[in-house]
Amino acid sequence: KARKELSGKRVLITAGPTHEYIDPVRFIGNPSSGKMGFCLAQAACRLGARVELVSGPTNLSAPEGVQLIRVTSAQEMFKAVQERFSSCDVALFSAAVSDFRPLECADHKLKKANNYNSLTHIDLVENPDILQQMGAAKTHQIVVGFAAETSNVIPYAREKLVAKHADMIVANKVSATQGFACDTSQATLVLPQECIELPEMPKIQLAGEIFHVLVKR
Ligand code: C5P
Repeated sequence: KARKELSGKRVLITAGPTHEYIDPVRFIGNPSSGKMGFCLAQAACRLGARVELVSGPTNLSAPEGVQLIRVTSAQEMFKAVQERFSSCDVALFSAAVSDFRPLECADHKLKKANNYNSLTHIDLVENPDILQQMGAAKTHQIVVGFAAETSNVIPYAREKLVAKHADMIVANKVSATQGFACDTSQATLVLPQECIELPEMPKIQLAGEIFHVLVKR
């Protein structure tokens, strides 16, 4: 009977990495697979929600019933989220957004022969923090962020909850072997009044637990 708990709700999700181009053939990126976000989309859809998934470059295809919006850079992701945030009820920001982008993208491939400086030195500018900006702008939305840390996981997650105006932070410990591109995850759900430590489980099951906790509130 608990199956369609999100029926009539609109859920917005960010997923995957962003690619910040340096020239036509090079970018700054990260190894995010997008799995967590795609699992969240699938879980929300099964619970009856109308789901929009804004994803950076991944090899994954859209779960059935999910509207997938593909983007490349953090700025494109920000724009796609801004256009959809006000009409959603729950927003989950699982994308691994690049914090910086090159100040400019060269219109030709940089060559070491004549552009040695451009290859050894790249000026960077900060990207918008999509979660932080949407958290600050929220009216009725429930906002969920993710925190991947290598140490002090819970204290950093608590700081993020406050700084980004989130209602929940899903905190993960990551290392070279755990976290990115993995099918399982060991997470702690950090909420204003409590911390829920979950055992390691498949990401699709973790997605279910996240919505279970959100619906209960
Ligand atoms: O501060 P940090 O990058 O560790 O926070 C991670 C959380 O913030 C994730 O939910 C991520 O999707 C979100 N984020 C974002 N835009 C950024 C950086 C992070 O939405 N530019």
